[in-house]
Order: sequence, then structure tokens, then C-alpha cells
Amino acid sequence: MARIRHKVLSVVGARPQFIKAALVSRALRNTPEVSEVLVHTGQHYDKNMSEVFFRELDIPEPDYNLGIGGGTHGQNTGRMLEAIEEVLLRERPHWVLVYGDTDSTLAGALAAAKLHIPVAHVEAGLRSFNRRMPEEINRVLTDHIADLLFAPTEVAVRNLLREGIPPDKVYWVGDVMYDAALYYGEKAEGQSRILSKLGLKPKGYILATIHRAENTDDPVRLGVILQAFAEVHREIPVVFPVHPRTRKRAEAFGLGPLLDAVMAVDPVGYLDMVMLEKNARLIATDSGGVQKEAFFYRVPCVTLREETEWQELLDLGWNKLAPPADVASIAGLLESQWVGSEGNPFGLGNTVNLIVQKLLSS
Ligand code: UD1
Ligand code: UDP
Repeated sequence: MARIRHKVLSVVGARPQFIKAALVSRALRNTPEVSEVLVHTGQHYDKNMSEVFFRELDIPEPDYNLGIGGGTHGQNTGRMLEAIEEVLLRERPHWVLVYGDTDSTLAGALAAAKLHIPVAHVEAGLRSFNRRMPEEINRVLTDHIADLLFAPTEVAVRNLLREGIPPDKVYWVGDVMYDAALYYGEKAEGQSRILSKLGLKPKGYILATIHRAENTDDPVRLGVILQAFAEVHREIPVVFPVHPRTRKRAEAFGLGPLLDAVMAVDPVGYLDMVMLEKNARLIATDSGGVQKEAFFYRVPCVTLREETEWQELLDLGWNKLAPPADVASIAGLLESQWVGSEGNPFGLGNTVNLIVQKLLSS
């Protein structure tokens, strides 16, 4: 039996992290010299925000589920920090692997850094340059305490170098979500029945997701977005898997009836989501991951924000920014269609292998 030389402790907690970690976890576990300990912070906890991904994507049962979610940023991050430290002291891994920019990411990275355990950050170097976003704080801090920074694009590499991060810590590996889109995109074709379940025709509907605090927590912005969706739905069906945060806020602001004016459904599993994305005529979103997936499947995307971390998508022309200010102009944009240019700044679909190889040789 191969001797375990690398014990990697992966920290996940939120929906996009389950998707990013799925293929990396599998590759780590298929490598004889590696053992993986999987920690789920509990940040996302509803069945359709967590369990469905573990089941569908064959992610191993977490070794630890910390059950920390539903609090404020300070509560979540603080409680996670304390609980992850305890796990790290028990497990003593060689590496802690964190993904993206959530409160779980920062808590994992900080707990490890304070114990002098090397941190590897997948999806390093993204910047919106908007410090009011909790995610921007999480990603900047995580990048500056990480020892190995896996950047998805050349723009991300440049962002890191500009902030003075030593070049020998930074590796351009491509985007794990591109690997996932290729692998699960094919699986979804065979397994998902979502189009017939919802009575949708390929290229006959718009897919929408909204969950960013800046949109959900502001009744005016959320109202503009939901009104635009409702207006467009009269002409073209708008399918809207609703994040629990968004549903809670919409109801609290008295905007619940606008959800009934579109095809609002509960959050869907990844295979159904991929199928919905591939067949949409346009995607409207404020999600980081969904913007990229729109491009992977060459579907035009309207990003309902002032800025995006994924400048590459704007440059290629597949993505257009639309700050939610005016119902009519957003509705008009959603009803339009266009194509962008070719090119792919997100790697070759071998990102997972590059990450595992680098961890093994470090
Ligand atoms: C978090 C991440 C965000 C990421 C998103 C992915 C941070 C700061 N934000 O945002 O970067 O894009 O996840 O979806 O970490 N809730 C439930 N059930 C759940 C999960 C959430 O009801 O399973 C509700 C709770 O009321 C919770 C609220 O949504 O308080 C917000 O959840 P939280 O994880 O703090 O932030 P997200 O908006 O999901
Ligand atoms: N997603 C999903 N079901 C949904 C909505 C999103 O599987 O109902 C997937 C989506 O395909 C993408 C990821 O979740 O891979 C994006 O997560 P989210 O938008 O919550 O977070 P972000 O990427 O903005 O951090």
C-alpha cells in the first residue's frame, strides 16, 4: 500500500463550493499517496442547497459537519473559525484546501494560517474592486494568507501580482468549474428531466437566479429585478430557481406576489441546473458561477450588478452588466439576444489534475 504523504483537509460550506470541490475531492481520493478529510461548515443546510449536491455529484459524506449556518457574517465566521481550529488540531493535515470567497473560505484559511498549516486557495485572484461585498473581503484576506494560490484566469494572476503576492505562490491552472461543466454537462443530458417536468422548450425561456446581498437586501433593487422578470414573463417564460435568502427577503418586503408572476421554483440540483442553463435563450443572474456557466454553454448572460469579477466575460461579449435601476431597460435587455466572440480564458478542462499535481509536489 502506498504511504500517505499528503493529508489534505478540504473546507466547504456553500452550494458553489460543493460543485467546485466535487471533482477535486474525487481526484484526491483516487491518488494513493493522498488522504482527504472533508469538512462541511454547514453554511448551507437546506436539502436542496446541500444534500442534493453530495448525492448527485457523488461527493463523499463529510468527515465533519459543523452545523454552522443561518447567522450573521460575524457569527458564522467566528463560530466556524473556532470549530475548524479544533478539527485542525485533531487532524493535523499537511494542507488546508479552501474554495472561492464565502465565510467558510475565510474561516478555513484563517484557522489554518494561525496554526501554521499551509493553505491552498482554489479560485484565487478574483476581484470586483467593491469592498462593500462580503465576498470581496473574504477573497482578498484569503489570498493574502494562502501559501498556494490557484488562479482560474490570467486576469486573476495579474490581480494577485499587483497586490504584491509573491509570484512563486501563484499558479494559473484554469477554472475547476469548467472541468465540472464539461463532465456534468454530458451527464445532465442523460439524466435530467427538468425541461419536460417544467414544460419548457429548448431556447424558449429565460433562466434567472438572484442571491447577492446587494440585490436581495435592498427592497428597491429587488423590486426592480422582480418587476422586470414579471414583465418579460408575459412574453417569454422566466424560470427562476429561488435561493432561500431571496425568497425570505422578497416575502419580508411584500414582493412575494411578483414571484408568483414568473415560474419561480425551489433551488434545483446541479444536473437540472446545467440542463436549464444549456437550453436557455438567455440567462439573467447575479451569481458568479452562473455567469461563467452561461459562457461555457454559449448562452448570452445579463448580470444584474454594477460590476463583475469575471471581466473576461464582458470582454468576450457574452455577458452584459445591467445594474438594477430601471424596469423597462432591464426588461428590454432580457428580451434581446446576441452572441459573443470565441476564445476560452478558463483553461483546458484539466484544472483538477493540475491542482492535485501541484499539491502533491509542494
Ligand atoms: C453565500 C456566500 C456567497 C455565495 C452564496 C452561494 C458569503 C458571505 N456569501 O451567500 O458568496 O455566492 O453563498 O449561494 O459567504 N439560507 C437558508 N438555507 C440555506 C442557506 C441559506 O435558508 O440552506 C438563508 C438563511 O436565511 C441565511 C441566508 O440564506 O441566513 C444567507 O445565507 P448565507 O450562507 O449567509 O449567504 P448566501 O446569501 O447564501
Ligand atoms: N446552482 C444550482 N441550482 C440552483 C442555482 C444554482 O445547482 O438552483 C448552481 C449553479 O449551476 C452554479 C452554482 O450553483 O454551479 C452557483 O452557486 P451560487 O449562484 O449559489 O453562488 P456563486 O457562484 O454566486 O457564489
